[in-house]
Amino acid sequence: MRSLFGVLIFICLSPFLAKSLSPSLDDDVLGLIVFKADVIDPYGRLNSWNEDDEKPCKWDGVRCNPRSNRVTELVLDDFGLSGKLGRGLLQLQLLHKLSLARNNLTGSLSLSLAQLPSLRVLDLSGNSFTGSISSDFFSHCGNLRSISLASNKFSGQIPENLGSCSMLISLNFSGNQFSGVLPLGVGSLSAVRTLDLSDNMLEGELPMDLEGLNNLRMISLRKNQFTGEVPDGIGNCLLLKSIDLSQNLLSGALPSTMQKLILCNDLVLSKNGLTGVVPEWIGAMRSLEILDFAENNFSSQIPESIGNLQSLKILNVSKNALTGILPEVLENLVNLLSFDISHNLISGSLPFWAFKLGLQKFRISNNEFSGSIDSALDSALENSLKDLLFLDVSRNKLSGEIPSAIGGFGSLQFLNMASNEFLGSIPASIGKLKALSVLDFSENKLNGTIPITIGECSSLMFLSLCHNKIAGSIPVSLAELTFLKIVDFSFNKLTGALPKQLVNLARLQSFNIAYNQLQGDLPAGGFFNTIDPSSVTGNPSLCGAAVNRSCPAVLPKPIVLNPDSTDATSGAITHSSGHKKMLSVSSLIAIGAAAAIVVGVIAVTVLNLRVRTSTSQSAAALAFSGGDDFFSHSSSPNGDSGKLVMFTGKPEFCTGAHSLLNKDCELGRGGFGSVYHTILGNGRSVAIKKLAVSSLVKSQEDFEKEVKKLGEIRHGNLVSLDGYYWTPSLQLLIYEYVSGGNLYKLLHEGSGENFLNWNERFNIILGAAKGLAQLHQTNIIHYNIKSSNILIDSFGEPKVADYGLARLLPTLDRYVLSSKIQSALGYMAPEFACKSVKITEKCDVYGFGILVLEVATGKRPVEYTEDDVVVLCDMVRGALEEGRSEECVDMRLQGKFPEEEAIPVLKLGLICTSQVPSNRPDMAEVVNILKLIRCPSDSHDELGDLS
Ligand SMILES: *[C@@H]1O[C@H](CO)[C@@H](O)[C@H](O)[C@H]1NC(C)=O
Ligand SMILES: *[C@@H]1O[C@H](CO)[C@@H](O)[C@H](O)[C@H]1NC(C)=O
Ligand SMILES: *[C@@H]1O[C@H](CO)[C@@H](O)[C@H](O)[C@H]1NC(C)=O
Ligand SMILES: *[C@@H]1O[C@H](CO)[C@@H](O)[C@H](O)[C@H]1NC(C)=O
Ligand SMILES: *[C@@H]1O[C@H](CO)[C@@H](O)[C@H](O)[C@H]1NC(C)=O
Repeated sequence: MRSLFGVLIFICLSPFLAKSLSPSLDDDVLGLIVFKADVIDPYGRLNSWNEDDEKPCKWDGVRCNPRSNRVTELVLDDFGLSGKLGRGLLQLQLLHKLSLARNNLTGSLSLSLAQLPSLRVLDLSGNSFTGSISSDFFSHCGNLRSISLASNKFSGQIPENLGSCSMLISLNFSGNQFSGVLPLGVGSLSAVRTLDLSDNMLEGELPMDLEGLNNLRMISLRKNQFTGEVPDGIGNCLLLKSIDLSQNLLSGALPSTMQKLILCNDLVLSKNGLTGVVPEWIGAMRSLEILDFAENNFSSQIPESIGNLQSLKILNVSKNALTGILPEVLENLVNLLSFDISHNLISGSLPFWAFKLGLQKFRISNNEFSGSIDSALDSALENSLKDLLFLDVSRNKLSGEIPSAIGGFGSLQFLNMASNEFLGSIPASIGKLKALSVLDFSENKLNGTIPITIGECSSLMFLSLCHNKIAGSIPVSLAELTFLKIVDFSFNKLTGALPKQLVNLARLQSFNIAYNQLQGDLPAGGFFNTIDPSSVTGNPSLCGAAVNRSCPAVLPKPIVLNPDSTDATSGAITHSSGHKKMLSVSSLIAIGAAAAIVVGVIAVTVLNLRVRTSTSQSAAALAFSGGDDFFSHSSSPNGDSGKLVMFTGKPEFCTGAHSLLNKDCELGRGGFGSVYHTILGNGRSVAIKKLAVSSLVKSQEDFEKEVKKLGEIRHGNLVSLDGYYWTPSLQLLIYEYVSGGNLYKLLHEGSGENFLNWNERFNIILGAAKGLAQLHQTNIIHYNIKSSNILIDSFGEPKVADYGLARLLPTLDRYVLSSKIQSALGYMAPEFACKSVKITEKCDVYGFGILVLEVATGKRPVEYTEDDVVVLCDMVRGALEEGRSEECVDMRLQGKFPEEEAIPVLKLGLICTSQVPSNRPDMAEVVNILKLIRCPSDSHDELGDLS
């Protein structure tokens, strides 16, 4: 009655409940409403609990006895309730089951079983209750069948009178902070089947006599601080199926009584200090599925009798002091999924049966296994290897080559073969391991190269090949492994440059290439901007900020060209063989060095080139290399060889040494780099563009593909690309030289009488249009139409230059396009500023329109006067609207141009500069329109319509 009185007081004080105080309320409604008032119900899960109801039996989470309508069950698992448990529950005198699992309830457990005498099931697991359990909590627990206080923050001792719960079947106190010793009464819980006290701070010795627990099926004392030995009495719990005493401080040997536990499935004793032998009698525990003795101090051989454990799925004896060899009978364990004997002293050769069993995990690391692995794998080949997920043979003395059959482990996620004596090269079949996330071959004697197929291990996150003798270059394909986090190639013999594409590895945390012979510059951007200097040290030819060494623009080694060699495999010809004719393309190389030109003229070492005549008729390829090992490298994309390809005929470089490159030869600079004029040995003039975007260009393969495509375009109004030179750090494009200068100079910098007449201007417009139309027909967008990119040859024909370069870069975003490439003021189509509009070849049409106006008016696209900015197309549009368009035409032509041509040309220019891309004509139409303008015999009306 005292508690009811308390409740009434509470209700009277609570305005929320005041109105509900009615004589018809039975104790259960009252109790539940008080409970509701005490907790916080953020998700409104108790909204159905209405204090006006006579019965609570239809409320969410409430169940009643159908006859008495009294509440028997309250199950509010996962209701998201927080706050404290009030005393309202004490009203529920007939409550059998109270389950509040996985809420957010706090406070201490104020009720006791004496106050809820009917309670059979109590589940408070997964809350945040604190405090200790009062010593009389269990004093009236005669009805209690199941109690779980798991996953809370209870502390203190477990009450001694727990032993009086004679009907208790299940007890779960796991995951709290209970401390002290186990109450003696635990040993007499004769009904108990599951006893879970894991993950607390319990200590002391276990009661030796467990005879009372003769119904026990499952016991877990995992993760406490129990000491002493495993009690003898455990052998009396004959129904035990699962024993977990792991992560305690148990010591001594296993009691032999355990062999009576023939129903036991799981025996987990890991992380204790158990000693002695792994007993022969273990074979009697025939139902064992899990046998985990890991991290103890067992020191014996693995007993033969383990072969009797036909049901065994998991065997873990890792981290003991086991010796001897593995018994052959282990091959009888046909159900085995996981086998871990790592960190012992076991020797012998790799057990071949291991790969026959359909294992998922196989771990024998840190032992003394020797011999080669291939026989084991070979004998497994006829079996399916597809189940294995985890293979760790690291830190043994295994030798021989890594068998190619390893590619058969189709599901493998983890492969560690580190710290053995493996030789030979990494098999290309490694690329078949699509699920592999960890690959460790470090500290072996592997040679050969990193297989390109590594790029197919698409799940790889960790890759270590350090401390081997691996040579060759880092394959570009590595950049395809987008999950890569940690890469260690240190202490090998890797050469060549780092693929630039590695910057795409967005998840990279560590990339260690220290102590190799890598060269060239580090990839710029991404992870590599902040790479730890210790990860790149020990590579004398590597350059870049991280190694504190600036990158030379020229290849460090002399380049040798031999024109007479027709046999690519002949290594006999060297640059010192005197009777061969030595040739030079020093000028090319000098351009490479021009990045370093600060003043005037620099001298460039005379470099020799050795020619390899290409089998291809259209293209003659020259491979450049640093020395006599040229031929062995020439076929692979190797960092220390450059490659010169001329698309037209054989390269004809003659002996004359053009060792000087004059800065005056610089023809111009653009977003893509500087252009130099030079004369090849045969007297042929070429313009050579040195790409300033070197660090951005695609892989060699893609670069070459794109350049070849550009080289195939031949048109009288396009500057033709005659060849290219490629090294990882330097790319040159070799163009035909166009002698007449560019249109910008002719229009805006010409002096005196020396300006273009109307006819010449019209020709230039028409020619440029034809060139662009041709480009668009081959699906190339120029992106950078401007008058300085229109070159005029000696016959006055215009030639469009600088086209297609955007294709050499990886996918470009709008920003790069507009800032790096289409930077010319006034020519930029408005869609560059508008994210939602796709950029198409119509941006060239816009640039062309501006160009047309520029040519016709002789004015720059944007001109600054003292207090004004004049935008050419606005100016022309205005003039046209006011009917004084002829005034727009270049003053120098006044009276010397045919109006019937000039006005339509201006109109065409305006149409081409429409704001909306789709309103602009395409270049093929533009060419037709221009032809019509020139031949006025055809109708003019069409053009009238256009405006
Ligand atoms: C439990 O309560 C804590 C703080 O009181 C809160 O941060 C957390 O989100 C709550 N959890 C749930 C499931 O409501
Ligand atoms: C004890 O409770 C925890 C947390 O709810 C649970 O994970 C564990 O499986 C339970 N133990 C047993 C033996 O059911
Ligand atoms: C393991 O046992 C050996 C003696 O057999 C002892 O020297 C060693 O200290 C023990 N190690 C542990 C971790 O108990
Ligand atoms: C074997 O046990 C050790 C120690 O508990 C553990 O680290 C390891 O992962 C287990 N082996 C396997 C294959 O699960
Ligand atoms: C790699 O090692 C194997 C085995 O030692 C040897 O036969 C082979 O010649 C080596 N290959 C190279 C390229 O050094």
